[in-house]
Amino acid sequence: MHEYNKLKIVETVLRDGQQSLAATRMRTSDMVPMLEQLDNAGFYALEAWGGATFDSCLRFLGEDPWERLRTLKSYLKKTPIQMLLRGQNILGYQHYADDVVTEFVNRAVDNGVRIIRIFDALNDVRNLEVSMQAAKKAGAHVQGAVVYTISPYHTDETFLKVAQELVELGADSICIKDMSGLLAPYAAYNLVKMFKTELAVPINLHTHYTSGMASMTYLKAIEAGVDIIDCALSPFALGTSQPATEAFIAALEGAERDTGIHKEKLYPITDHFRNVKKELIESFKLNTAIDIDTKVLSFQIPGGMLSNLLNQMKEQGMADKYPELIEEMPKIRAELGYPPLVTPTSQIVGSMAAFNVMLGRYKIVPEEIKDIVRGKYGRTPVEIDPEFRKMIIGDESIITYRPADDIEPQLGKFRQELAQAGYPNANMEDVLSYALFPEVALTFFKNKS
Ligand code: CO
Repeated sequence: MHEYNKLKIVETVLRDGQQSLAATRMRTSDMVPMLEQLDNAGFYALEAWGGATFDSCLRFLGEDPWERLRTLKSYLKKTPIQMLLRGQNILGYQHYADDVVTEFVNRAVDNGVRIIRIFDALNDVRNLEVSMQAAKKAGAHVQGAVVYTISPYHTDETFLKVAQELVELGADSICIKDMSGLLAPYAAYNLVKMFKTELAVPINLHTHYTSGMASMTYLKAIEAGVDIIDCALSPFALGTSQPATEAFIAALEGAERDTGIHKEKLYPITDHFRNVKKELIESFKLNTAIDIDTKVLSFQIPGGMLSNLLNQMKEQGMADKYPELIEEMPKIRAELGYPPLVTPTSQIVGSMAAFNVMLGRYKIVPEEIKDIVRGKYGRTPVEIDPEFRKMIIGDESIITYRPADDIEPQLGKFRQELAQAGYPNANMEDVLSYALFPEVALTFFKNKS
């Protein structure tokens, strides 16, 4: 049979699917019964680790995330395990020293990760250098991610420039990461076409159903020659998650970009995860009734966040200020130089907006906002207006170099702290869990022993 331009699918049910629709509460025991079948289904990769799963394992599920990875690896013999990494933030919310980043990547690869998708919330590639180098050295496939957003500054050319820098740093493939479902079908066609023309590596498109456009967006991207798309099995698809895997396989059957995956093979897996979802909703009392929300297109607030913000406002007895709050977010984003809203910038801008509508604009300024203005998260897409800067940090100096250059090696310190807490023989994985989520990890270790 002659080689055709088969569309590849990354299945996200084990990571983004369950993170988007079940608050990342899926347990390893929910996954294990289907791993062999998932391994044999014909996916390009299974996104199964990283993102919020690491935190959730330790915090909510009483599971060791490293142990989960080893379990996954013991079943997944053919299909690569893919993870999502936030560059210098690793899986946390702040910048870590280079020794922590490098060691984390090494341990992830050693324990079973084969593809690492790496992104930075500001698209500042300096924040990806160390993790990309470490991943390459460890022998992983490095996928550099360009975070997609819409602003008066961002054009296809600005995204291409980021992608080119990532390829120069050694990216084996490029992901267009549209975390809020903002990418419209024809915009996707043009962007993918440009990437396919200008870049020599495979292009992976990642989007969410939040605004209701995702399937159309994928179809136009497929027509433009995208190599890989991310989908979730139907029980964990749509809403704020990805388009449904089965639907895409069926849609392309017999067409030029047939996925080569037999949809019948997926039916038992789908049935299993439908039950898992039902059970998770009951056990964790999850609210998963998430409708399509086109407001995301105007306010760029990721789906999960809209409901979180509304709940927070209700708790403060200020639900009536909610419309003001969603108007406030784009204003703050503009003042901060149009950062894409993705972890951690989405949370930072979200809390600033809440403070602004409850107390008056910038009456209270959290340290994280000051750090963005100081350059401690990296370079913002547009330079921050000097007057705004002065209002937030006064005459403090700003940094223009790679933020982690200021961070001394941290591993020794973390190991020492852990020893003082009663764990002198902790292995490197435990040290890294502690480095990322100190209090949560200590509680986990205590409950485990
Ligand atoms: Co996503």
